[in-house]
Order: sequence, then C-alpha cells, then structure tokens
Amino acid sequence: MANRLTGKVALISGGARGQGAVEGQLFAREGAKVVLGDVLEAEGMRAAEEIRAQGGAAVFIRLDVTKEDDWQRAVDTAISTYGKLNILVNNAGILQMEGVEDIPQQVWDRVMAVNSTGVWLGMKTAVPALRQAGGGSIVNISSISGLIGTGLQTAYQASKGAVRIMTKTAAMQYAKEGIRVNSVHPGPIDTPMTTDLDRELWQMFLNGVPLKRAGTSEDIAYGVLYLASDESSFVTGSELIIDGGYTAQ
Ligand SMILES: NC(=O)c1ccc[n+]([C@@H]2O[C@H](COP(=O)([O-])OP(=O)(O)OC[C@H]3O[C@@H](n4cnc5c(N)ncnc54)[C@H](O)[C@@H]3O)[C@@H](O)[C@H]2O)c1
Repeated sequence: MANRLTGKVALISGGARGQGAVEGQLFAREGAKVVLGDVLEAEGMRAAEEIRAQGGAAVFIRLDVTKEDDWQRAVDTAISTYGKLNILVNNAGILQMEGVEDIPQQVWDRVMAVNSTGVWLGMKTAVPALRQAGGGSIVNISSISGLIGTGLQTAYQASKGAVRIMTKTAAMQYAKEGIRVNSVHPGPIDTPMTTDLDRELWQMFLNGVPLKRAGTSEDIAYGVLYLASDESSFVTGSELIIDGGYTAQ
C-alpha cells in the first residue's frame, strides 16, 4: 500500500468497470477510502469486493448520474461510511457514434443527460461536502472528443466539450474555497466501452495514435490520481490530455 491519497475519501461515478474500476483500485492502493457509484449493480458490488479483498476500503452504491437524489445518496454514503468527502471523479459516460443527421433526438438527449448533466449534478451535490472537508479535488473525465472533431459522435463530442468548459468555470467559482476542478481527456482506451466498437473504426482511431497503441485504464488512472492528490495543489481549471499524442498532430 502506498500513500499518495492517505486520509482521503473519494467518490467515483461509473466505478463498476473500465477506467472507473481501475481508478478505484489505484486510489485504494494509495490509501483512499473509495465509494464506487454506478448503474451496474452486480459489477459494482464485485469491484468494491475486489478492492476489499486486496486490503483496501471500498463500498458500492447504485448511482444513476442523471438523478440528483441518487447523487445525494452517494455523497451521504461517503460521509456516513467514511466521515467526509475529499475527491469526486466524474467518470461515468456513454458513447455514441452517429453524425449530425443520423442521431435520433432521444439518443442525443440521453448522451447529454449522462455525460454533461451528470457531471454538473455530481459537482452540485459534492461541493457542499468538499467545502465541509476544507477543500477538495474534482476530476471530470472528458475526452479528446471534447477537444477535436471526428465527424462522428455528434452528441458525445458536444457533451464532452461541455465537460471541458464546465470544469473551467467551476474551477473559477470554487478556487477561493480550495476546491480544485480539472478535466482529463483520454484518447482511445481499451475498455468495455470500446470493445463493442466496429473493429475497422477502432483500428482507424488507433492508426491515428503516434505511440501506436490503445491506452489502458491504468494510463488514465495515474493521471486522475495526480489530479486527485495534493501533488497537484497548484493545478486547477486545467486539462490533462492522455492520448498517446493523438491531438498533438
Ligand atoms: N474508452 C475510451 O476510449 C474513452 C476515451 C475517452 C473518454 N472516455 C471516457 O472515460 C469514461 C470512462 O469510460 P470507460 O472507457 O471506462 O467505459 P465503460 O463503459 O467501461 O465505463 C463507463 C461506466 O459508466 C457507467 N455509466 C453509464 N451510464 C451511467 C449512469 N447513467 N449513471 C452511472 N453510471 C453510468 C457504466 O455502467 C460503466 O460502468 C467515460 O466518461 C468515457 O466517456 C473513454
């Protein structure tokens, strides 16, 4: 067990699998107590159990990030179980691949609800607890799709672009209270989200990566860990791109 997050309590949305689950494991190894929230209950309970089996502290709570009441219960769980909340990772997200004319409105609405509204609600409900803890760190998971256009992913890109700028305005609002807010922008990462993608399309994304591989959840988790920890105490309103060089070209 290392100690980069010793004494901290973290809430991670979308923590049942993929990047969120790996962030939960890494945070626990670094000494944090972790609350994993997700709509996938069986996988979420398993993810928390795995952390406990390795000697870490973790609980799972059902959390639909589009529902304010769910968020309140998740924040309350962190406080009732571990006494406080220091870190929020807004990681939950859903992918969408259609272009402007092809995306049905209900798909647009759902993607915006989960990826953008969910991040706002997470910040809204966590900030009072972070304030009570004397400050804290919010890490919002955007994407390189929040930075550049792909010609696909209409709602996904709009939602992730919103996360980028929402992060900056929240950083400005809460800096005086010691609450830092930063965004992370992963490139193509090998997770359950992308294993379902059409293989030709996936290969096309990978061909655009100068480092010539897909990223792993660990590649992202170490960036999130830095932003969550006090090592980044002078960093707020920033965007950390972890994409194998994709957007540098
Ligand atoms: N995989 C990639 O290539 C990639 C690239 C850039 C950004 N991202 C972003 O990284 C984050 C993590 O994605 P991942 O790659 O681990 O994918 P994933 O699909 O494995 O994980 C996403 C998690 O979010 C959860 N989730 C979805 N809707 C939810 C809701 N309404 N409430 C609560 N939880 C919900 C899912 O159940 C799942 O556990 C997402 O925000 C995603 O958009 C992923």
